[in-house]
Amino acid sequence: MALKLEPGARLVVATHNPGKARELAAILDGRFTIVTAGDLGLGEPEETEATFSGNALLKARAAADASGLIALADDSGLSVAALDGAPGVYSARWAGPDKDFALAMRKVEERLDASGSEDLSAWFTCALALAWPRGPAVVVEGRVDGALTFPGRGDKGFGYDPIFTPEGERLTFGEMDPAAKDAMSHRARAFAKLKAAVL
Ligand code: IMP
Repeated sequence: MALKLEPGARLVVATHNPGKARELAAILDGRFTIVTAGDLGLGEPEETEATFSGNALLKARAAADASGLIALADDSGLSVAALDGAPGVYSARWAGPDKDFALAMRKVEERLDASGSEDLSAWFTCALALAWPRGPAVVVEGRVDGALTFPGRGDKGFGYDPIFTPEGERLTFGEMDPAAKDAMSHRARAFAKLKAAVL
């Protein structure tokens, strides 16, 4: 059976972050009624998997089974080739409890220096999972490749954006207008794949 989302379906977005829920709803073109895991008082499962897809699926599955609604979850982060893919699924955790990304970016630079490698290759990954309550699930990943850039530049983005220059571009994600970043980002690529799969 093909998994298709009917227009008007009620979806729970497995996040307690209203900004993220709005962003995900906008990408879905307002075709669905969106509620958040926070709205429904659902807990936040611990992200215990070793892959982006594993964590996205774990979050979508938990929200779908607890709510009885189709659930959408994401997991994303920065991977550095010379650091064997770190920070990877630990991208948010490297910023510590205060979500201090200046600290997280310093850590990337320090670990890279310590590695002795001159390979600046890095990539962002976004995994999206859509799970049906006690039913099947679809998981997709989008990726954008690029190079680490020190010192970081730009304050238009968030997270690790200032230290990442996508392949073929001069500007870092932190210097790009949101629309330019959205046209090539890991998140946009994951959503294109998800739409192709379920819309
Ligand atoms: P999540 O919310 O658990 O998926 O955590 C994602 C982590 O990766 C956050 O710490 C983000 O700052 C970082 N991250 C994900 N996507 C991006 C991006 O597009 N730019 C910069 N940082 C990102």
